Amino acid sequence: MNLQVNKLGLKYGKTVIFNNLSFELNEGEILGFKGHNGSGKSSLCLCLTGLFEEEFARDNIRGEILYDGVNLNDMTIADRCNAFGLIFQNPDNQLFSPLVIEELAFAPENLNVPRDEIEKRVDDALKTCKIEHLKHAKTNALSGGEKQLVAIASVLTMRPKVLIADEITSRIDKEKIDDIRQILLDFAKNGGSVIMISHNEHDLKIADRIITLERGKNYDY
Ligand SMILES: Nc1ncnc2c1ncn2[C@@H]1O[C@H](COP(=O)(O)OP(=O)(O)O)[C@@H](O)[C@H]1O
Ligand SMILES: [Mg+2]
Repeated sequence: MNLQVNKLGLKYGKTVIFNNLSFELNEGEILGFKGHNGSGKSSLCLCLTGLFEEEFARDNIRGEILYDGVNLNDMTIADRCNAFGLIFQNPDNQLFSPLVIEELAFAPENLNVPRDEIEKRVDDALKTCKIEHLKHAKTNALSGGEKQLVAIASVLTMRPKVLIADEITSRIDKEKIDDIRQILLDFAKNGGSVIMISHNEHDLKIADRIITLERGKNYDY
């Protein structure tokens, strides 16, 4: 896997969020992004996963994102789902199934993964996130930290090549943060790549490189 981002620019109307941002990510790497609130970290995640509406993107996004040499715009939605797994900053924006098991099976079902493979993926993801006991729980009865772990597991069942984690430790108890860091480390060690967003320096210690986002910055140097 190789991800190449060339001179990426994003604005909302007249407000430039970032401009000429370039970076590369290869298999097994963890790339960290830090930056203050409003510096554009979550917006960058949306750019990387192609989640902006086409019309908005045409007017407001510049530069190119190449996944294994293919422009993101030329990838099908299914290809993008297989490539990128985005874990949202707020799990309430991600979880919508009544039961944890349904939540975890939802994405692979939509990608037409065979039933026995789905069951294996669900069990693997529950184990990786140490939440086997929540398999049959109701999603809306979970604590904030448990929701975040279910959100991580639900992305892992898609088996993405690039895991994008947008401030996923903010709702997690201190004692459990090491577990989250270990999930990301293991993901990279097993041949995946990670983009990790955090404003916590300690979390970013596992990153191979760190890029600081500053609102409105032009990275053309
Ligand atoms: N859909 C949108 N329309 C207009 N402005 C937005 C939109 N989404 C985010 N912004 C603004 O863009 C800036 C960057 O937001 P965001 O990417 O969420 O930053 P971060 O994740 O670093 O806190 C903020 O000032 C935010 O208010
Ligand atoms: Mg954010």
